[in-house]
Amino acid sequence: MAAVCLSLTGKTIAENLAALERYRNKVDLVELRVDWLEPEEQFLVRSFPALAGLPAILTVRRRVDCGIFDEGEGVRLVIIAKALSYARSDNRANFAYVDLEDDFRVPSIEDACRVFGTRIIRSRHYPKGMPDSLDAVWSGLSSEPGVIPKLAVTPQGSEDLASLISWAKTLPPRDRIVVGMGDYGYPTRILSSRLGSMLSYSSALSFGMPTAAPGHIDPDKFADTYRGRETTKDSTVYALGGGRSVIGSKSPALHNQAFREAGIDAVYVPFPSDSAKGFFDAIESAGARGAAVTVPLKEAIIPYLCCTSSEVDDIGACNTILKTDSGWEGFNTDASGFERSLLEFLGRDSLDGMRVTLVGAGGAAKSVALVLSRNRASCVILNRSVSKAKSLANRYGFRWGPCDDRSLDLVADHGDLIVQATSVGMTGGTPGDPLDWYEFQGREAVFDLVYRPERTELLTRAEKAGCRVCNGYPMLCHQAAEQFRIWTGLTPPEVYRGEG
Ligand code: ATR
Repeated sequence: MAAVCLSLTGKTIAENLAALERYRNKVDLVELRVDWLEPEEQFLVRSFPALAGLPAILTVRRRVDCGIFDEGEGVRLVIIAKALSYARSDNRANFAYVDLEDDFRVPSIEDACRVFGTRIIRSRHYPKGMPDSLDAVWSGLSSEPGVIPKLAVTPQGSEDLASLISWAKTLPPRDRIVVGMGDYGYPTRILSSRLGSMLSYSSALSFGMPTAAPGHIDPDKFADTYRGRETTKDSTVYALGGGRSVIGSKSPALHNQAFREAGIDAVYVPFPSDSAKGFFDAIESAGARGAAVTVPLKEAIIPYLCCTSSEVDDIGACNTILKTDSGWEGFNTDASGFERSLLEFLGRDSLDGMRVTLVGAGGAAKSVALVLSRNRASCVILNRSVSKAKSLANRYGFRWGPCDDRSLDLVADHGDLIVQATSVGMTGGTPGDPLDWYEFQGREAVFDLVYRPERTELLTRAEKAGCRVCNGYPMLCHQAAEQFRIWTGLTPPEVYRGEG
């Protein structure tokens, strides 16, 4: 397990100490980001290590290196020199580490560090991308004896992330820090020990402090959602692949809690991905054994699979993969997850005789359509792009129409159940209500596949009109339980019982 370092970005020492108290039992060391302090506080940092009571890193980060310090190198040198000035009698009163960038070479500071027992972290930051040669940069950083080399790069896509992880795994053992910043680097925050990093940086986000660098995770989330303090470099990795929104998914809280409850040494990690190939490269480099896959990769991953379940073939979308000796096998648990949560919501065994409106014709709607068909519902599919509604409807002998007021009669005729399966209304997606032209009568049951926010505009309106409503959280839980079964072969634990 890598140590957790809390990077403090408060304006005052007192504010930083208050944040540290909030997370004290979830962090191992602390980084004082002097660049975030008010100017008058920047010269008072000498007292910080003793007050913090944890090993402390001194860092004065310039803007070009992802910090906010812009008062010039002279002032920076004075701040560092003052902060390191000695307390020979008690080493715990000194900074344990000082982060000095690759171009900050001041022999008198380096001598002082040796005398006072402060270890140098020799760092290089790439806030906008990756260097041409990781090896070349690394050899510059790691040439001095006794220093801790630190390289922080910003992968521009999942293939960059894959090369970073693969490269880090080839490095010989020594104290070092390797970080992928930004969304595509997010997995390196959780899997830092796999990259051989001695620590993972974290920011006091739930305390209300700004993030110290792009992609930092709060210590609570790191420990609770991502099992960051329970897993090691040898833990089994499961991934969540999809667009950048996977960082906000609720599925890590579910799966990681399930692994915890089942006593399985595994961790489930979001991998924001910009292509199916990049996604596979990245999870292969991390040694993942399985993955959940979401928008927009559910169809794009299919050509990379060695075999697919009949549901994947019927639906044309895959949301779960498992590594086997022959390659990656693909499954679809969306359909069964939706089916189970829908029947529970309605309190029925089938949809026989029900008249249903399905809104949407994308990947999620395809799973819904299969379930509606196999449960013998009479259905109309409405979609912004009418041609997609038509082609999905034709597969199952359903009716179809545009998603606007020209379809009022169709909805009136298929109003027992309305299923919303577009991405409209989802946190981070297109805001709005795709049925804003339709007035709920109060007799419709309404199921919205979106679970973030808990109540979309559409669900709020339906509920006000007296409709029974359900969001996508129970479906998320049921489909996740099925994923757990596929990955582990075990009965899913209680945590997957969700209520919408
Ligand atoms: P998913 O896998 O989540 O279903 P998808 O396959 O991209 O993602 O499908 C998104 C669905 O949301 C589609 O039905 C899409 O309509 P189009 O087929 O016309 O694109 C629908 N959708 C997305 N944005 C929309 C918007 N702003 N208004 C109406 N429908 C929208």
